[in-house]
Amino acid sequence: MQHLLSVDDMKENYIFDLWSKAIDQKDNYSNALKNKILTNLFYEPSTRTSSSFYSAMVRQGGSVIPINNVKFSSAIKGESLEDTVMTMATMSDCIVLRHPVTGSVAKAANVSKVPIINAGDGEGEHPTQTLLDGFTIFYNNNEKIDNLRITMIGDLRNGRTVKSLVKLLSRYSGNHFNFVSPKELSFPKESLPKNAFETTKINNVISETDVLYVTRVQTERGSDHKYSLSLEQLNLLPKKSIVMHPLPRVSEIPREFDNDPRAKYFDQMRYGLWCRMVLLKDIIA
Ligand code: CP
Repeated sequence: MQHLLSVDDMKENYIFDLWSKAIDQKDNYSNALKNKILTNLFYEPSTRTSSSFYSAMVRQGGSVIPINNVKFSSAIKGESLEDTVMTMATMSDCIVLRHPVTGSVAKAANVSKVPIINAGDGEGEHPTQTLLDGFTIFYNNNEKIDNLRITMIGDLRNGRTVKSLVKLLSRYSGNHFNFVSPKELSFPKESLPKNAFETTKINNVISETDVLYVTRVQTERGSDHKYSLSLEQLNLLPKKSIVMHPLPRVSEIPREFDNDPRAKYFDQMRYGLWCRMVLLKDIIA
């Protein structure tokens, strides 16, 4: 059994092998997961992650028990996370878990008889988002993820996708990080990578950026700050740069930018399906 709780659970070789299989397979259908069942157990809202796992199972012949709204499950009667996980482990081969409390995926893994995949735990991590984010950079950068100038903007304190992605990109030489946020939403000091520059103003760094990673302010975690990048600011980006966002977006990127060749945030979701198809096969088949 192999849980995926953190980016730390995936070695470099494993990730490159998964990406290479994802490029070979893309979203081709198969029956590799016939008779296998996945539980989607989501204690927080999700559009992309839950649907992407659902699609990745079904495209490979598997089935899904969708518990996307725990209000309609026995959690509302007071059932503990552990009991719910032990229950679903008796009827499925893998559990994809999203939960508002950081560390809850580890609690689930302690009692689960089937693999747990972390689909986001509070302010903690979102490792499968990092698989697709890293893939997006790899796929658009001649299959390399080193020697990049990466600018991350938004709620860097509460956003879990940035924490997981920084863990991955910090493994590779020459990567430099610019963190742009108001002070109260700054990247946690204890996790700052060596090559990091912190600023409150995007205009200080946008013209020297290869990858712009834009994030939403996490109002559900108490953050209170709105921001929008303007088309004028986005046009300061180098022509070969890419713009990513884990989505959903609120006001961060104007829709007018969506057709710009640098905008990769809708491609990210397609790549997520490719990566999750390979991941599920590795973990369940
Ligand atoms: N990127 C992401 O996790 O999106 P959802 O919240 O819609 O799953």
